[in-house]
Amino acid sequence: MSSLTDLKTSFQKTEKASLKPLMDIVVQDLEDTNQIILDRMHSDVELIPTLARHLIAAGGKRLRPVLTLGAAKLCGYEGDRAKKLAACVEFIHTATLLHDDVVDESDLRRGNETANALWGNQASVLVGDFLFSRSFQLMVEDGSLEVLRILSNASAVIAEGEVLQLMNVGDISLTEDKYYEVIGAKTAALFTAACEVGAVVAERPEAEVKALADYGTNLGIAFQLIDDALDYSAEQASLGKTIGDDFREGKVTLPVLLANRKGTPDEQNFWKRVIEQSQTKSDLDTALALIEKYGTIADTFAAARKYGTAAKEALGIFEDSPVKSALLSAVDFAIDRAY
Ligand code: IPE
Ligand code: IPE
Ligand code: MG
Ligand code: MG
Repeated sequence: MSSLTDLKTSFQKTEKASLKPLMDIVVQDLEDTNQIILDRMHSDVELIPTLARHLIAAGGKRLRPVLTLGAAKLCGYEGDRAKKLAACVEFIHTATLLHDDVVDESDLRRGNETANALWGNQASVLVGDFLFSRSFQLMVEDGSLEVLRILSNASAVIAEGEVLQLMNVGDISLTEDKYYEVIGAKTAALFTAACEVGAVVAERPEAEVKALADYGTNLGIAFQLIDDALDYSAEQASLGKTIGDDFREGKVTLPVLLANRKGTPDEQNFWKRVIEQSQTKSDLDTALALIEKYGTIADTFAAARKYGTAAKEALGIFEDSPVKSALLSAVDFAIDRAY
């Protein structure tokens, strides 16, 4: 995705889902960011750009870099730093996806076979490390210790979140608090950082930096709640990922946690078996029926809307502007999305 036309075509489908206003505002900057991403994934070790290109060229929503660019714009920033940092944020995201697909044994990402399916786990882990390292080079080039602090903290927290989640796989007794701790770390931390650095480059007062960080945190939690709902309810073709992955992995997400809590003793025994012991072919259908019976996809959406509202409220300190309303619409997109 390197030309302006490609970018516009790629995001036309988001018009209804309301990421488009933000895309339209940052589209020129995003084109530069994409160019930086393409330039910086280069290496003379051929497998690196080949594997990275496979994932990066497949698109992705570019949501996190768009948030960095949008946050910087909201703060009146006009310089070039935000573009490089947006690329840095997308590199961190891409690296975590490469590692996550190995851990989750996923075979579909962005509508294509995953890198681990095509090149194996070892190559995916190592190219993920390369992309992480590239992101740190970009931070160092930016030169701000504050930016380095924010993004390096986020990287550590994401890794902690993924490990914490791994420790909880196969445990039906996972509490709601622990679940939120996991998604806060593995997903929301990067949304927080992506938005925060936008305000930091603009050298805005602490209250504005914090407001944008809060916006990102709440948006990130809402985003992962929807991701967890979509894993049981989306059209695989539009999502570009395999439905039911969380279930097969024995990962307890909010739709399951709530269905288990509301279930009869027999149903709770079902959840204990499929999450903690073994699954048969028809178990996913049973799980879907129980999730449907107790309306826990709707509950998960309701929880996401609550965080979405908090994200919007966090922007209350900023004056109304086109970029502010675009950032508010991005919250609706995160909740209404089908992919
Ligand atoms: C996927 O993020 C990982 C999660 C946090 C759920 P996205 O849904 O933003 O992935 P791409 O970049 O658009 O493929
Ligand atoms: C997303 O984890 C968070 C990270 C990639 C760090 P998931 O495993 O829930 O996301 P998908 O469903 O694979 O995109
Ligand atoms: Mg995964
Ligand atoms: Mg995962």
